[in-house]
Amino acid sequence: MCKPMYYVVFSIVYLSIVLAQKADNGNTKIANVQRNDQGSMDDVDVEDIMNQCNETFKIEMAYLQALNESGSFPDETDKTPKCFLLCVLDNTGVMTKDGDFDPERTAALFAGERAGKVMDGIQDMAAACADRKEKCKCEKSYNYLKCLMTMEIEKYANNN
Ligand SMILES: *[C@@H]1O[C@H](CO)[C@@H](O)[C@H](O)[C@H]1NC(C)=O
Ligand SMILES: *[C@@H]1O[C@H](CO)[C@@H](O)[C@H](O)[C@H]1NC(C)=O
Repeated sequence: MCKPMYYVVFSIVYLSIVLAQKADNGNTKIANVQRNDQGSMDDVDVEDIMNQCNETFKIEMAYLQALNESGSFPDETDKTPKCFLLCVLDNTGVMTKDGDFDPERTAALFAGERAGKVMDGIQDMAAACADRKEKCKCEKSYNYLKCLMTMEIEKYANNN
């Protein structure tokens, strides 16, 4: 029911790499994440992962910007961009193979500044957002990041 089934547009190369792994279980894995340094993203190429995920689960840049700046997608009924998030979280190791979220890796992925303030509390925020019950992993990934972005915006972006 909630299987990501949007494998409409993908290249032959991408197809040959991943088809075998995702054929029967809707798994979005495109790379084997090395898990020996959870506190950084040095072990994965985030840009490459995003590009590859975007081949299968099309997402407009405006959707990512909206999530980052307002905390949510403009259209929350469209499942494909939510499955893009799952694909990225899965392949960066932010989502573990058991389907849980790793707050330390989340903090590594989303490290940065907002309104000129270094975000030093992402790991705690991520931990507060991580306990999720959604069965659909796409929804679960979206709601996790919605929770995190909303907390970030409240803490760092508002001048109060
Ligand atoms: C995804 O790919 C489309 C082109 O196929 C592009 O317009 C869009 O900006 C890409 N999204 C991201 C987040 O890079
Ligand atoms: C997210 O939004 C903040 C605040 O507008 C901005 O500083 C940051 O560059 C944005 N990050 C991304 C990845 O778009």
